[in-house]
Amino acid sequence: MTQENTFYITTPIYYVNDVPHIGHAYTTVAADVLARYWRLRGREVFFLTGLDEHGQKVQQAAAKAGIDPQVHCDKLSPQFETLWKKLNISNTAFIRTTDPEHKSVVQRCLQQLSDKQLIYKDSYTGWYCTFDERFWTEKDVESGLCPDCKRPVEKLSEHNYFFKMGQYQDRLIEHIKTHPNFIRPESRRNEVLGFLQTQKLGDLSISRPKSRLSWGIELPFDDNYVTYVWFDALVNYISALEYLPRTKPAGTRFWPANVHLVGKDILTTHAVYWSTMLMALNLPLPETIFAHGWWTVDGEKMSKSRGNVVDPNKMVDEFGADAFRYFLLREVPFGQDGDFSQSAMITRVNSDLANGLGNLLSRTLTLIERTQAGHIPAPGKIGPAECALERATLSLLNEVLPRHFEQLEFNRALEAIWHVVQLANQYVDKTAPWTLTKSMDDAETLRTVLYTMAETLRCLSLAAYPIIPNSAQSICSQLGISPEFTNPLLKNKIEWGGLKPGSPIHKGPSLFPRIESKPGARPVTESSVPSQPTATAPTLPSVPASPAPLQITIDEFMKIQLKTAKVLSAERVPKSEKLIKLQVSLGTEQRQIVAGIGKKYEPDLLVGKTIVIVANLKPAKLMGIESQGMVLAAGDTDVQGLLTIQEEVDPGTKVK
Ligand code: MSP
Repeated sequence: MTQENTFYITTPIYYVNDVPHIGHAYTTVAADVLARYWRLRGREVFFLTGLDEHGQKVQQAAAKAGIDPQVHCDKLSPQFETLWKKLNISNTAFIRTTDPEHKSVVQRCLQQLSDKQLIYKDSYTGWYCTFDERFWTEKDVESGLCPDCKRPVEKLSEHNYFFKMGQYQDRLIEHIKTHPNFIRPESRRNEVLGFLQTQKLGDLSISRPKSRLSWGIELPFDDNYVTYVWFDALVNYISALEYLPRTKPAGTRFWPANVHLVGKDILTTHAVYWSTMLMALNLPLPETIFAHGWWTVDGEKMSKSRGNVVDPNKMVDEFGADAFRYFLLREVPFGQDGDFSQSAMITRVNSDLANGLGNLLSRTLTLIERTQAGHIPAPGKIGPAECALERATLSLLNEVLPRHFEQLEFNRALEAIWHVVQLANQYVDKTAPWTLTKSMDDAETLRTVLYTMAETLRCLSLAAYPIIPNSAQSICSQLGISPEFTNPLLKNKIEWGGLKPGSPIHKGPSLFPRIESKPGARPVTESSVPSQPTATAPTLPSVPASPAPLQITIDEFMKIQLKTAKVLSAERVPKSEKLIKLQVSLGTEQRQIVAGIGKKYEPDLLVGKTIVIVANLKPAKLMGIESQGMVLAAGDTDVQGLLTIQEEVDPGTKVK
């Protein structure tokens, strides 16, 4: 039914009763990822978002601010548009339900339904929830409270216009049954189906008397009434195609929509109200309505009264748009509820972005700069390690990612991308290109390794682009290429070897700077002279040779706790030739260690390595910097090699 070469994706239109929060950002980012992905696949994409500006909530918010509702909407609307720019949202159009063109489409639809005798006037008495803007029946209401938002409801009796929704019940059940992808995820589909199969679907009140609510679109056949905010809002998905973008309206060829993304709380309005409205209007139903879960904050419901509303603007300012986008889609499977916390965000940035992808890029470019005069080398003979990485990378792009993106499994897409990041970092650790300096053969192997690293990064940038578009572009420009990401780059199978040997790279600033946790977590000892060795062997005073080595008992040895640690970041200590300050992870904790290995190692090349440390050494200061342990290295006055573990071993594992 839907065209093969177009892709129409929508977000809900957000109420302008308040400023945007993480929930709004979540759906909009997810929609943006799909829009960017399908553009790469060569579809013509129409991506719609916008604002729901009518109804009681907006009228009340404006009244509270003491301004006219339209002035209120005009004031708030830029806050959404600015946020979407900040978050790199590539929407095709931005609809506002107060647009005159939208209003006339709503009135046309109402008139059509009225002409078809699908709208009738009746009196209605029920329990009305102002917050949810809906009536409840006697049996729904518990102790005078709305079953949904738990706010008090009031008994209202009024004449209203009704849409004959109930007559579509069987047709809707049949549609859901025969279109397994119509409502997703599956659990939500079963919920809707369960409700439709066990309860009688009533008709829908689609008007509000102007005497009670004036802020809405007038019914074309009775100017004493405005239309129900949901009738107005849902029509946006078809009205926008008629007049937006104003320079070149999209046209109805985009209908039916491929995906309506909504939060779980507004699934019924979409799956039932909207579907039956479309049936009545003789229009095809959307291919998929996908209901995502809700975010809590530090384990609690997000609310203004709790003061824990997550402001996406602040997140972007603090962590960057890409890191926030990454977190939203990586942290929880799309469709399930998730919890937001600042610490979870920092962990993701440091472990996945800085140490994973960021580190891979920086070590690749550092080595190419240093050993290939800043030019992409020509690869030599390819071995099994290169073949394996190439195979994994191409299968990611050509097989794994399409599957996950098509299924809206963003977290699995990201897991798959980061699996290749991990494979690539392991490949670097195993091939240890910094040691390939001795022979002609080494020089060839080095070129092969560096080319493989750079080409993997090129492919990773394509894979990650829909989610972290800025970073993908930065990876490419640092590799010295500038693909046009709005072109259908994933239309055809991706082949290995896109990077041209001999082309210059342009190493830039680090992709994802590590976020340091707030200071003060660990006690700092004040002594400036180490009472015990606190760095690696070379910083120790050399021990005079003794005729017979001093022997210790096993018990004495067992007092020394040796553990594996993963290097998270490394930087030179200013004014010291030898000292490097490392941040290492021991799994459950993070430590800072100052090590005298700076003559042998460049800090960049240490990141990601699993080393061995003495974990129970009393902290001490070296050049005024606290060291919370000692790294083990071979060598006496000069370090010859750091003890590293080649295998994947969890940080913090005991070494004996
Ligand atoms: N105006 C209607 C939608 C009309 S669509 C034709 C509306 N607006 S809203 O601003 O109240 O909500 C918009 C979206 O935000 C909904 O999809 C809702 O699920 C989502 N969220 C609100 N709080 C949320 C979280 N805490 N977490 C995730 N999404 C949340 O409803």
